[in-house]
Amino acid sequence: MKLILLGPPGVGKGTQANLLEKKFQIPKISTGDILRSEIQSQSSLGQKAQQFINDGKLVPDEVVIGIIKNRLQKSDCRQGFILDGFPRTLPQAEALKKITPIDHVIYLKCGEEELIKRLEGRRTCSRCAKMYHIIFTSPKKESVCDECGGDLVQRKDDHRQTIAKRLQEYDRLTKPLLSYYKTEKNLKSVDGLAAVEDVFKRLLTMVSPS
Ligand code: AP5
Repeated sequence: MKLILLGPPGVGKGTQANLLEKKFQIPKISTGDILRSEIQSQSSLGQKAQQFINDGKLVPDEVVIGIIKNRLQKSDCRQGFILDGFPRTLPQAEALKKITPIDHVIYLKCGEEELIKRLEGRRTCSRCAKMYHIIFTSPKKESVCDECGGDLVQRKDDHRQTIAKRLQEYDRLTKPLLSYYKTEKNLKSVDGLAAVEDVFKRLLTMVSPS
């Protein structure tokens, strides 16, 4: 199964991609995660991407298209994959079309007020990357990961001003993909405002053969 999860920042693409990865044993490919790990290792790619991400802007198409081309060639993608955060622009969608066919494109939707709440409250374990939310899924001990005891940190781009910029970029550059995939791929929508388990159940009905 080759699946794209589309949707605004904070709608729950990463959360659902993690669940789908476990369920179907196919890799979740998040361009955001790949870029953050390049930044952490201070690679030249990371250095190129850092300022864009911190400013809430999209990283240039040629950079992310190159990342995806390499990643999709790896053997673990043979049985399929879940794309989380790619494509995000029309040129990225066109480039992906040339790389591989896609089975499902699912749009997770949710209002802006909720997105801001989710992003501002998100915390991630600096050791095992488990995700929390300070209100919805808080850890037992403040700022400490329940699983591994690592410190919980807030992403640099999860501050209010940068969130506003990311949402503008989404409207400007990513939203046009909704009509693109309506025409190309019979885009399906899921209410991302629902509880995590309910969104997941809904996704399963959409990707399972009837
Ligand atoms: P990226 O890391 O992809 O960030 P994003 O798309 O902005 O999405 P997020 O990871 O913020 O949110 P999400 O939808 O995954 O939600 P999550 O599950 O975490 O990209 C970061 C940056 O990298 C970009 O700004 C750009 O600069 C660059 N980049 C990446 N890809 C690029 C590309 N293709 N082209 C160019 N640049 C690119 O959930 C959020 C919070 O809500 C969590 O706390 C979670 O616990 C909570 N939550 C989730 N679901 C629910 C629910 N149903 N109910 C209640 N809480 C929930």
